[in-house]
Amino acid sequence: MPSPITLSVRRRLEKAARAAAKASYSPYSKFRVGAAVLASSGKIYTGTNIENASYGLANCAERSAIFTAASQGERAIRCVVVFTPTPAPTMPCGACRQVINEFGPDASIISICHSAERVETTLDRLLPAAFGPKNLKP
Ligand code: THU
Repeated sequence: MPSPITLSVRRRLEKAARAAAKASYSPYSKFRVGAAVLASSGKIYTGTNIENASYGLANCAERSAIFTAASQGERAIRCVVVFTPTPAPTMPCGACRQVINEFGPDASIISICHSAERVETTLDRLLPAAFGPKNLKP
């Protein structure tokens, strides 16, 4: 069982997710998203949504953050924080849930927004009975 994520680390993650949304490249949807990921190393990685004139190529904030973490050699994710400057929190999309599962099947998921409303859950609850690396083991 991993040690609980302290309040000060959670605050750092939330601050990082809010800051990450500022770099959002979302000229088509105008929907800014920031994400911060806590890796098992203790390091925090951030990402934002990056859209494309070929709309289907948009990359979500969560995946941007996770791919950055994985590119730095991280292989285990403990927590993902998603921030949107909206009245209600935004939950990770289905594709992002699957990508989180690859590195953080037990990860905590925190969604925050402009208001005090928030969602705190786990990836397991958002993607029950997930297909993942364990299914490909001989
Ligand atoms: N988006 C994210 O970055 N994360 C989510 O969890 C939901 C959607 C982005 C993708 C696109 O750039 C914009 O929000 C509108 O769908």
